[in-house]
Amino acid sequence: MLDLDAIRADTPGTANRIHLNNAGAALMPKPVVDTVRRHLDLEEAIGGYEAKAEAQDALEGVYHSITRLLGAKRHEIALVENATVAWNKAFFGISFREGDRILTCQSEYGANYIGYLQMAKWKGVRIEIIPNDSSGAIDPEALRAMLDDRVRLISITHIPTSGGLVNPAEAIGAIAREHNILYLLDACQTLGQMPVDVSAIGCDMLSATGRKFLRGPRGTGFLYMRSDIIADMEPPMIDNFAANWIDANTYTLRKDAKLFELWESNTAAQLGLGAAIDYALNLGIEAIRDRAEILSSRLREGLAAIDGVTVRDLGHVKCAIVTFEVAGKPPEDVIADLNQRGVNCSMSTADSTILDFAARKLPSLVRLSPHYYNTEVEIDTALEVVQAAAEG
Ligand SMILES: Cc1ncc(COP(=O)(O)O)c(C=O)c1O
Repeated sequence: MLDLDAIRADTPGTANRIHLNNAGAALMPKPVVDTVRRHLDLEEAIGGYEAKAEAQDALEGVYHSITRLLGAKRHEIALVENATVAWNKAFFGISFREGDRILTCQSEYGANYIGYLQMAKWKGVRIEIIPNDSSGAIDPEALRAMLDDRVRLISITHIPTSGGLVNPAEAIGAIAREHNILYLLDACQTLGQMPVDVSAIGCDMLSATGRKFLRGPRGTGFLYMRSDIIADMEPPMIDNFAANWIDANTYTLRKDAKLFELWESNTAAQLGLGAAIDYALNLGIEAIRDRAEILSSRLREGLAAIDGVTVRDLGHVKCAIVTFEVAGKPPEDVIADLNQRGVNCSMSTADSTILDFAARKLPSLVRLSPHYYNTEVEIDTALEVVQAAAEG
């Protein structure tokens, strides 16, 4: 059972705003901010390189925290700046050949899809969309029917940015494993919101960000790369940390996931990320998931009951991202009303998941994304505002 009073006391932002924008960036808890500040103070006091040397054990602890979060091994984790960097380093590290097929999903994230397009332009790979089932989630059996020996990569978004859908990552992983096909999972919106175990999912690569449901600092992210595929990878943009420079004609690549890192990084932010993961692990990811589910169901059901409001979330399994439209009222106006009552929220627009918006002929949507530290009263306040907007 989560101690909501203690959690909210740890989260100063809850005194100022009703923060329903956790799919954008969550409110950081105090231990995260304190960790970042402490390290900046140390840098100010003794110098950046010297502060990093003193923080070595703590930095090692960040990797350890991520391995606990994912069920991964220490040398399978790279700390990077955000989910996009993590994803790109993994994807562009694969040695694609002309005619290779990449199978992805209708709700794929924009930055990832642009990566496929770039690879299609450079190497002549083919991009194909796995059909959805009747609920709007990826259909694993449809995926199975698409497989042949030209399929090089299955690459999907677990939880799309634009709605409450949770794609069946594990069922897809089972098929990828059965056919020995590389599997890249975008778990940017998943981590910190629900349990993730890379072995149970069966993914080879997983990209994540710190600032969303994990409640870490902005500008943090990480990549999981299964140990036995690292030797086959050569990411773009390697430096003399990711590789060993041997002589005028030679370099060799690192053998662990630090191959995907660069030498320079924001130590304070990385330590903050570790503090955020520890905070979530201490509360318990299952307990977090259960409460986020209670709040998002209350919100989704409350919205669906308002005349003129249409909830647009897909899937049998849903998460703490809730998207909707209000008949006759532009999303910008609904968002302005919500902001006026102190509710932070955002708008889902076509450019982040263009295939899905086109297939479903969606307009821009209002996106509310609660987290475990929100209260029922906050959810009801948001509902009241939307009710008034729908009536007005
Ligand atoms: C599903 C998904 N993937 C990737 C990203 C990109 O994450 P980042 O901004 O940390 O690079 C986002 C950001 O909203 C996202 O929602």
